[in-house]
Order: sequence, then structure tokens, then C-alpha cells
Amino acid sequence: MLGVILQLFLVFVITCLTVVYFFFRKNYGYWEKRGVPYEKPKPFVGSLSFLMRRSFWDVFYDFSKKFKCDYFGIYMSWKPALMIQSKELAKQVLVKSSDSYQDRYSYAGRDDDPLGSCNLFTLKSPMWVQMRHEVSPMFTGSRLRNLTELMNINSSELVRRIQKDYVENKQPVDLKELFSMYTSDTVAYTVFGIRVSALKELTSPLWLITRHMVRWTFWRGFEFTMIFFLPAIAEFMRLKFFSQPATDYVKKLFEEVVAERKKTGESSDKDLVNHLLKVKSNLKLPAGSDAKLADDLMMAQAALFILGAIETSSTTLTYMLHELAYHPEEQEKLYQEVSAALKESGKDILNYDDLLKVKYLTACMHETLRKYPPVPHLDRICNKTHQLTDELTVEAGTPVYVNVVAIHYNEDSYPEPEQWRPERFINSNDSDNHDFAFIPFGEGPRFCIGKRYGMMQIRTAIAQMVMKFRFEPDAPKVVESDSYSVILSPKNGGKVKIIPRN
Ligand code: HEM
Repeated sequence: MLGVILQLFLVFVITCLTVVYFFFRKNYGYWEKRGVPYEKPKPFVGSLSFLMRRSFWDVFYDFSKKFKCDYFGIYMSWKPALMIQSKELAKQVLVKSSDSYQDRYSYAGRDDDPLGSCNLFTLKSPMWVQMRHEVSPMFTGSRLRNLTELMNINSSELVRRIQKDYVENKQPVDLKELFSMYTSDTVAYTVFGIRVSALKELTSPLWLITRHMVRWTFWRGFEFTMIFFLPAIAEFMRLKFFSQPATDYVKKLFEEVVAERKKTGESSDKDLVNHLLKVKSNLKLPAGSDAKLADDLMMAQAALFILGAIETSSTTLTYMLHELAYHPEEQEKLYQEVSAALKESGKDILNYDDLLKVKYLTACMHETLRKYPPVPHLDRICNKTHQLTDELTVEAGTPVYVNVVAIHYNEDSYPEPEQWRPERFINSNDSDNHDFAFIPFGEGPRFCIGKRYGMMQIRTAIAQMVMKFRFEPDAPKVVESDSYSVILSPKNGGKVKIIPRN
């Protein structure tokens, strides 16, 4: 009897393995059959054999060196996906034919993860269309003018912290952590209107949560990798965009701020809570939806602003300081331009309009975002079959990735792309994508909604720091990236020598 059971079990296992084998073999012939160059897949993992060992950023960089073509095929485990490397095709997918590529491929979350499933990044059409329309006016120039005041207050705090910890107490520098504290404080102030200062006291509850959100442990890296690149597995494993403690904390914070505003009758037009509440009252929810959907939608946007605002900007600030340290002439020029702007304005600190006029600051920031785009790829899923080129038709259901690193390192657009040269962006303004050769914030209907906010919080911090300190190199020129992080993140936090001016 035992022998028969064992035999049956063996037959079952062999049948399953055979089905799986033929399933993968059939899928792995997808690009070959269409005459598209492709990355040779490894059994089961496809093109993802590097996972958790190398960063996505480095792999996208290697792709750009290996495949000198406009597009090629990869396999996200069993699923064929298209990788785009030319600015012309990027424009086609992101803008001209965006109606065929409306949503992101990444996992959209489940009902038991409202903050993960209702935020603008993960929302799918048609709900995304409505939310985007309602939320966009939150980031207009006049709002940013107010928010810049709050960013400047935190930038002054940042300067004080650098002076105390690194100059006076000579503590070891961790730029990524320092700038995450700054962006975390800024987001608390600009979104919720609350003054909690991680820069002042490390026990700030918001910092404990945000640090957890942006700390790339093996598990957090694994969760985000599945959410972005293998959404079917993320769904199967019920992974969450925001952890339970982060969800509970954001909800509590949001509710407390709203209750306080109701109680005191105070409203502040400087932060974003009031605008979110106005959006809530305008929302037209699908018939029969749960009453708490409107609340979830508001809190989800607040949670996403936290995540979006902290990680990307702190990474950019880290790499910008690293490059300035290695480029003393450019650093001096930046210092001179900020000094001149201060003199001309007659103020101690530059405001929104003054900062936009410091062209060299913009050039240094844009060149940093060119060389180190924090998000190395833009993902979409083809929602209706589309003829992308004369030779290539993209079938509905195919994930499509734009390799931002490949576009930013294209030698025709940027000769000697490995060099950091702000001169490439002299006279560049924030809305110029240089004919699609510069897309660190994505493009088209789903481009980054916090683009101008992100750039302004980088400007206020750099403008205040260069006036007080000089920076010199204190780490190898090539910064190793964190292999657990899906976006660019320096492996050891990043450091520079900090010398007070006068
Ligand atoms: C240096 C700073 C930043 C960079 C480099 C950056 C980059 C990006 C990129 C590449 C995307 C995807 C765009 C696409 O798919 O076409 C994105 C989306 C998004 N970002 Fe940012 N971001 C930054 C700062 C911010 C800030 C400060 C916020 C919020 C306050 C924010 C909120 C968002 C949101 C909500 C989306 C989703 C938009 C949608 O799908 O409608 N980002 N960001």
C-alpha cells in the first residue's frame, strides 16, 4: 500500500515538474519568436537572477552597456517584459500613446492594505484619473511658495545639526541618514503642519516610522522587489506597501491633526492636510463603496507623500554633496552664486523666487539627477495591443519598462556621461525634459506629482549648507549602491569631510 502511494506521489511530482518545465520553455521562446533581442533567461528566475545580490540601478546600468539598441526583451521570472532604452520610444510609451500604457505594472495592493492600495502611485484607472485630477492642484507654484518657508526652517535646523554633530563633536557622517531626517521633518511640517524634529531629537515618533519605511533590510527589499517586479507573487504572499506600524501611525497622526483642526477651528493654508480634506469633500466615489473609502484615500496620499518625499530627495542630496566634494571649482562657483543671490535679495535666507533664479544651483541639481536618477526605471503595463514600431507590436498585458539610466547615460545626449558636469544644464529650467533625454521624474500623465516640491526641498538644503560649510571627499569616488533597495540608495550612507567656512 505504501509503495502504491509513493508511486502515485512520484507520478504527481513528475507531472507537475513537466507542466512547469513546458510552461517556462514556451514563455522563454517569446522574444526569440518575435525577432527581438533579449536577455537570456535563467530557469525559473528569468532575467532576475541578480535579485537581492545587486541593485536594480546597477543592473539597469549594465543593461544599457550590454544592449546598444532601442529596446530588448527580458523575463520577469516567467513573464516576458519589454525594456525601452531610447528617448524616442520612451516618449511614445509615456506620452504619445499613453492611452495604451495607462497603469503601472506594480502590485496595486488589497483591501486589507488601504494605504497601499489607494495611493496615487499604485491606484489604477479610472480611480487614478479622479485622484490625480483632485490632488494635482496641491503642488502649484503659489502653494510651493508657502511650503518653501517651512522647508527653509528645517534647512536651518539641518545646518545646526551638521555644525553640532559633525563639526563640533566630530561624529561619523552618514549623509543618507542625515538627509532622511531632514526630509522626514520637512514632510511632517509641510503635509501635517506638525513640528516634530528628528534632526533635534532622535526619538521623534515620526522618525521611528519613516526610518523603518526607508531602511532597506533584506525583507523590506524583498517586499518592494516583489511589489514592483513580480506583482503576482506579491499578491500571493499578501505583501504590503506600508507595514502595519506605518499604517497605524499615519492613520493616527492624520486623525489627530484633523480632530485638532476641528476643535480649534484653526486652518493652515501652509500645509497640505487642509487641501486633502477639501479633496475629500469633492470626491465622487463609485456607487456602493464603503464610506471609509474617502478617508482611506486621503490617508493613503499622505502616506505616499511621506515615502515619496523622503527617500528620493535624501538620495539626491547625498549624491549631490558627494559630487560637490569631488568638484571644488564647481562648489566654489555654487557658493559664489548663492552669495550673490543673498546679497541681491538683502535677506539671510533665499525664498522660493530667489532660489529659482540661482541658475547654477539648478544646473548642479539637474546634473546630479541625470547621473544618479533615484528611480532607475519607469514601469507601465500595456492595456491594449499597440504597434510601437514598424517591427514591434506590444501585446496587451505586457509589462514595459523605460530604462532611465540608459537614457541618462546616452553618449549622443551627454558626451562622457560618467562625468559630473553641471555645465550641461546651464539655463535649464525645472519643466525642461531636454527632448526626453532627462526624465528623473518620469513623464506623461503619470509623471511625479511632487517634482517641484522635491526639487525645492533639495534647493533650500543645499543653498543653506554651501553658505556655512565646504565639503571635501571622504569616500571612494564611485559610491556602491545598496543591493536591497529598488531605488538608488548609497550602500554605506555616504560621507564627506565637512569644513566650516570662516
Ligand atoms: C528628487 C525627488 C523625486 C524624484 C526623483 C521622484 C521620482 C518619481 C518618479 C520617477 C515617479 C514615477 C513617474 C512615472 O512613472 O512616470 C514618481 C511618481 C510619484 N511621485 Fe515622485 N519623485 C520625487 C519626489 C517626490 C515628492 C517630494 C513627492 C510628494 C510630495 C512625490 C510623489 C510622487 C507620487 C504621488 C507619484 C505617483 C504619481 C502618479 O502615479 O500619478 N515624489 N516620482
